[in-house]
Amino acid sequence: MNTTSPQARALSGIGVKIAGTGMYVPPGVITNGDLEALMDTSDEWIVQRTGISKRHRALPGQSLRHLAVEAGRAALGDAGLSIQDVDLLILATVGAETTCPATACRVVDDLGGGNAGALDLVAACSGFVYSMNLAHNMIRCGSMKRVLVIGAEHLTQFCEYTTRGRGTAILFGDAAAGAVFEACSDPSRGILAQAMHSDGSGWKDLYLPYQERDFPEDAEDRDMIGVLHMNGRAVFKFAVKTFCDLIDDTLKKASIPADDVDMFVCHQSNVRILDAARERFGIPAEKLYVNIERYGNTSAASVPICLDELRKAGRVRDGQKVMFVAFGGGLTWASSLWQL
Ligand code: COA
Repeated sequence: MNTTSPQARALSGIGVKIAGTGMYVPPGVITNGDLEALMDTSDEWIVQRTGISKRHRALPGQSLRHLAVEAGRAALGDAGLSIQDVDLLILATVGAETTCPATACRVVDDLGGGNAGALDLVAACSGFVYSMNLAHNMIRCGSMKRVLVIGAEHLTQFCEYTTRGRGTAILFGDAAAGAVFEACSDPSRGILAQAMHSDGSGWKDLYLPYQERDFPEDAEDRDMIGVLHMNGRAVFKFAVKTFCDLIDDTLKKASIPADDVDMFVCHQSNVRILDAARERFGIPAEKLYVNIERYGNTSAASVPICLDELRKAGRVRDGQKVMFVAFGGGLTWASSLWQL
């Protein structure tokens, strides 16, 4: 667990603010009714177990890069900036189009070029929170002035829309969203406490095999190459415990009670996991945002979508304390508690 102590913040003299946010959701839609027609499932089962009613799907010809570029353009526009004003782009995704080059390099080029640093970051559904911590820390220490972070996923390409793929097909959707992080002169603004963790021994609970050797030895469905494999029950158990422990640890490190947090912006994986965290800390419903019914689980895009919707609705604003929390494949988990 890392914190940014008041002393460290004062010494650096540099604060960090969110200068703009934006999102892009592709126009294709998969409703629970559509899934009923493709596999043995039901709207009732999906809503009860997950809270999801629909998810979006990229159009044929729309790649991960297209989604990321649209989100990046929206975030830059909101900040009144162009890509040439940015020192670094971090693209959080599990679906980089290529590993060489990093997809982020081509996103910078598509956004108008220039010579911003660019890298892809893989931490599955924790990717945006990992990236916002890194962006913040680089700005706080004075090595960067502005960092654009985009979380983008094209997960429907990794789902099989038949009964044997229903464990993941009902959950995941396509989307992208981003935020511009910028240095400011008030050192009290920025992260109060943060965390980034992993436990690779749980890798088999959520993985994406690209070839035969990527499967665990005991795996079934070895022909399902390029399809997300998940042990739903194991991930559920991990998520409920981790979510609560992470929120608890982060509050303790910042020495503030849950009541002092104005908004919890959490990865949208399952409404039951969010409800468990809300109940444990007595968080009122209006302080823990839920939009999973409209988008499903969009992995690294889910936290920045929530952030963008909340900012645009005036529910997240300067002066507030906001906690970001995510967990996902790896296994990974991360938090970021901000003084905005
Ligand atoms: N539609 C209808 N029935 C389904 C189904 C589906 N899509 N998927 C599974 N079932 C059936 C199972 O076959 C099982 O039937 P049985 O009792 O006759 O054996 C029953 O429903 C319960 O299955 P189970 O896997 O125990 O369901 P669950 O309550 O654990 O819910 C998930 C499944 C995936 C919704 C849930 O485990 C989950 O959300 N896990 C976390 C996933 C997650 O967050 N992943 C992303 C991490 S970032």
